[in-house]
Amino acid sequence: MQQLPMDGLTHGNRSPVTCELKCGSACAYPPSNPSTQQSFRDVVGLRLSRRTLLLGSGALAAGAVLPALVPTAGEANAARPAPSRGLPFTAIKPVPDTTDDLVVPEGYQWFPIIRWGDPLFHTSPPFDPSVPDAEAQEEQFGYNNDYLDILVTDRRGRHALLCCNHEFVNRSIMFPPRAAGAAELELLRALMAAVGFSVVELERSGRRRPWRYVRGARLNRRITATTPFRLTGAAAGNPLLQTAADPTGTRVLGTFNNCSGGTTPWGTILSGEENFHNYFQSNFPAGTPPTTPLYVQRRRYGFNLTRAGSSYLWERVDPRFNATNASYVNEPNRFGYIIEIDPHDPTSTPRKHTALGRFKHEGANVRVDADGRVAAYMGDDERFEYLYKFVSSRRFRPGGSRSARANNLELLTEGDLYVARFSGEDRADNANLGVGTWIPLVANGASVVPGMSVAEVLVFTRLAADTVQATRMDRPEDVQPHPRTGKVYVACTNNTQRGTAAGMPGADAANPRPDLDAAGVPLPGGNKHGHVIEITEDDDRVDATTFSWNLLLVCGPPGEVGNYFAGYEGPVSPISCPDNLAFDSEGNLWISTDGMQGIAYCDALFKVPLVGEDRGRVQQFLATPINSETTGPVIHDRDGSVFVAVQHPGDGGSWVAQQSFFPDYLDEREARPGDWRGPRPSVVQVIRQGPS
Ligand code: FEO
Ligand code: CA
Ligand code: CA
Repeated sequence: MQQLPMDGLTHGNRSPVTCELKCGSACAYPPSNPSTQQSFRDVVGLRLSRRTLLLGSGALAAGAVLPALVPTAGEANAARPAPSRGLPFTAIKPVPDTTDDLVVPEGYQWFPIIRWGDPLFHTSPPFDPSVPDAEAQEEQFGYNNDYLDILVTDRRGRHALLCCNHEFVNRSIMFPPRAAGAAELELLRALMAAVGFSVVELERSGRRRPWRYVRGARLNRRITATTPFRLTGAAAGNPLLQTAADPTGTRVLGTFNNCSGGTTPWGTILSGEENFHNYFQSNFPAGTPPTTPLYVQRRRYGFNLTRAGSSYLWERVDPRFNATNASYVNEPNRFGYIIEIDPHDPTSTPRKHTALGRFKHEGANVRVDADGRVAAYMGDDERFEYLYKFVSSRRFRPGGSRSARANNLELLTEGDLYVARFSGEDRADNANLGVGTWIPLVANGASVVPGMSVAEVLVFTRLAADTVQATRMDRPEDVQPHPRTGKVYVACTNNTQRGTAAGMPGADAANPRPDLDAAGVPLPGGNKHGHVIEITEDDDRVDATTFSWNLLLVCGPPGEVGNYFAGYEGPVSPISCPDNLAFDSEGNLWISTDGMQGIAYCDALFKVPLVGEDRGRVQQFLATPINSETTGPVIHDRDGSVFVAVQHPGDGGSWVAQQSFFPDYLDEREARPGDWRGPRPSVVQVIRQGPS
């Protein structure tokens, strides 16, 4: 294996391969947001509440030792069962990060519903990774499943649609090494066919029974890096989106690096195109002035400006991935959007919505308020990037009529785009930690950013947001409105550069921990564990331009300074790097993680009550295998089931020395010739055993 930028730099046993493939080893380079704007703390000063001081920025609290609010793993396991009608469980112990197993609580069982390579159509060839085959992969379940939803489609609960992203690929463990030539090119095409999105029909014999996927079902669908998409919104057709192959600037081939997403109240699926920069060759000739507009734009989005090739080398089979080619200089501008897919119509053309801006979209989640107004909340997952909100011009129309459906399918094509600025100033009632403002970038169809047209704001959204003193966040991942309360939860996964040298911003109230102290010495725990923010829109309107907010969780391992669990003082499970969020029918928050290896544990799924005496009580439900990330949680508690997408298991292995054998764990002695024993990213159902 070649030297990788993150070799020796990852936290714990996290694989540097994952870092390179997933985000281009972003942590090995300076953040893409070079803005030297001061944090609001520097600008306005902070009127620190008692709670702020208790939470303490790491800088304030460095070296201090908190009372043992957080127990050891064993103590957490001894905690009383987490009360829940549908899913009672006793928290599991954290699982050491060398473990190649999926661990669930006592009284539960797990099994894969569908794995990478499983055939979706009657014509699909059988799974055989020893011979990479793009046509075969086009008809099989994709790799590295992330966002997931299970939409039950009939009243008896016997039919459902599984909707799932496929974020990225890892050729080193998927396929055998290939020499240059035709076999290598076919391997690259097979990788392009393994990303994107899958829709798969499920069936079962009754409620609380296992789901199985239906090969050849009518709605089964694969969307890949070559599937036609239609661009919508004010930037569609703009010269910034035109290429030699698409002079209309409205028709794009494919989607990739789809991370998280959301399911809309009108039954479609949203998915975030995240680290799209990693797929393009984008080097500039030596001596290119750094003020060249194209250079500025590419740098702001984290493109590699010096390497003569992309991370995935797809430019060898499709010239549009070489963005140094004058014919395709705008091709990268056609990625980095929220896409919308109608899983109920396999003939529909999926769309990319420019109205929701272009950045490294983690996902998007929609809330419709009491008056039918519609907002989509979105995070830009990179260090010091921003939190956004889109508010639709149209209102939601309930019901299943043709006209309501037609209206709702246009909700994300036109509206206002905002970016968040957080302040630490308390309200008079001291009920919240701070207040905030949604600052418009686009309003009433016009740009609010001086010197930028609407199309420029929507295509270079990061540059637009830089101009309005938005708050630079600790990698905002899932941003999810609560289905009952409307409060919006923001998972900030970590930020290893907060407060470090070279002028990077220090802690602020909404991002309370720096990584290093002023002298560059690592703080205990630093800022590698992340936190969860709870936002309340003013007047409970999704189009509010002001809000209040709290810190719900400041994550970390037991006993570490600065952790905060919404004031809960009993035992909790250690948690680090919150990523994906979900809710159960009782209103509890569930959090999956991406980086527990930093505290030597496997990534995991946690339940967190949000109200009552258990508010903030973090309880670990499951752990996923070595080097995997726990993604896509779906909680069907009334049905006794939890679903997770197990992404990149065994990512640090190789074709000949696999690290994981998930999910089938075939014994080497029992495997038949041709049986694949290496890891297969899979969607898993965890089902409660015994009487309901
Ligand atoms: Fe793909 Fe933001 O994690
Ligand atoms: Ca994620
Ligand atoms: Ca992640």
